[in-house]
Amino acid sequence: MIQIQIYDTTLRDGEQTPGVHFGPRQKLDIALRLAKAGVDVIEAGFPASSPGDAEAVAGIAEASGKGRLGDTVVSALARMRRDDVDAAAKAVREARRSRLHVFIATSDIHLEYKLRITREECLQRIRDCVAYGRTLCREDGRPAFDEVEFSAEDATRTDPDFLAEAVRCAAEEGAQIVNIPDTVGYTTPDEFRRILTGLREKVPGSYRLSVHCHNDLGMATANSLAAAECGAEQIECTVNGLGERAGNAAMEEIVMALRVRRDAIRNRGEELSCRIDPHEITETSRLVASLSGIAVAPNKAVVGANAFAHASGIHQHGVMAARGTYEIMKPEEIGLNANTIVLGKLSGRHAFADRTAQLGYTLDAAGIDAAFARFKEIADKKSVMTDDDIRAIVGEYLDSREGRYYLETFQIQSGNHIRAMALVSLIVKEPGGSEEGNPVATEAAPGEGPVDAAFNAVNRIAGADGSAGRVELVSYGITAVTEGTDALGEAKVKIRDAESGTVFSGRGVSTDVIKASIKAYLGAINKWTAMREAAGEESPAE
Ligand code: KIV
Ligand code: ZN
Repeated sequence: MIQIQIYDTTLRDGEQTPGVHFGPRQKLDIALRLAKAGVDVIEAGFPASSPGDAEAVAGIAEASGKGRLGDTVVSALARMRRDDVDAAAKAVREARRSRLHVFIATSDIHLEYKLRITREECLQRIRDCVAYGRTLCREDGRPAFDEVEFSAEDATRTDPDFLAEAVRCAAEEGAQIVNIPDTVGYTTPDEFRRILTGLREKVPGSYRLSVHCHNDLGMATANSLAAAECGAEQIECTVNGLGERAGNAAMEEIVMALRVRRDAIRNRGEELSCRIDPHEITETSRLVASLSGIAVAPNKAVVGANAFAHASGIHQHGVMAARGTYEIMKPEEIGLNANTIVLGKLSGRHAFADRTAQLGYTLDAAGIDAAFARFKEIADKKSVMTDDDIRAIVGEYLDSREGRYYLETFQIQSGNHIRAMALVSLIVKEPGGSEEGNPVATEAAPGEGPVDAAFNAVNRIAGADGSAGRVELVSYGITAVTEGTDALGEAKVKIRDAESGTVFSGRGVSTDVIKASIKAYLGAINKWTAMREAAGEESPAE
């Protein structure tokens, strides 16, 4: 049996999904869940990219040092620059086992247009940085990293001879893992096999081969598995397939394909397997969906809401007679139980806090208080509260805490013969200000329907109507969290700063869809305001 290592990059490549941002606390919650699921390596972030990310990676490394991640390795990404490597070393310092992941593009198009360097310069940087990472030591003399991984970005569009040269340089300088990314999701299973086999022939050695596939043509999982069939020992992937553009290979697909088709997906006849406990898949997927704000498409393989639903009469009949007629895996295998009814309006704070912890969230006392208050408010209107309701409530809290604007009241007038008009009042909190005694700002605005009118009124208060800056609505959607007429509506909004193009997301939940929509919009506006305030601009409502 050949063990395939699962390298999860949800916290790094997954965070590159437009509109996704994980704070340090959220990253730690996801890391703990990934370690529980049995992930071999967690790519915790890219420390040189921002102080916030460095802090988040350090938090995960610290948890690892305290034994909270078991044997899972903590990896940090770095460009081929010594200062990036230094930042990675500092961030993973406390980890029980650490990895440096250094990358540089090797395709001619990237070298010429992005990096503006020659092939020789590229090889020189690889030699210099891999050697630097391998020899860097802490003050006590121990190596800064337990292992070094080298990635040749855009490898599948790189001249195969030059790719081999780049890999040879990295291997000679001591990289123990060589990663071959299909950065733009361009390759095919057959072609990828040829690339990897050719590379191994040209550069034999003791390094472990890894692959990292993007999903632009929907082939990320197939390409990753084809690579494992011809000797790749590590697969890089993300939960729910999050990631740049069309995303990365989805972890749940890799794990279940290796399991369900262990008869067919083999390396020279030998069975391939991984350490992931499939029973953790559903909870891990839901936590990532909740913390990223990116819902899983209903038809998504393995974790989509319809993955085990049988709509047509013929299929239902077949499944009732024998599940195997239309089901190739059992819902229980991936930890999918019925949407459990856990709490009701009489449940106490303690039970609520316990349940949120079981679902993978770590909230401090103030967070539990705030989320529990929302839970009580909603439980009053809704007969039963499920895990999905709790995820939605905590998700809204995490998105909206420490914001500038909070909904006080709203009134909407709309109908089929009149233009919709909204009157919205927001509490305007001073940065770092107290809970009470904050001013209230009120604005009225018309719109194409009640939601648009309410968003326009919020824009006026926040100065996003062009008076201080301008935002554009990128997407807006509302879904029912559970079934029934009293279902909680979860609204998700994305806005874009007209000037910088930065995208901000927000979400809100309520049994009233307009209220959920305004809360979601405020979540996004609060992040936009924070960005502007950080850039030293004044809010007009002050
Ligand atoms: O897609 C890619 O090439 C990457 C590298 C940094 C590994 O994400
Ligand atoms: Zn990538």
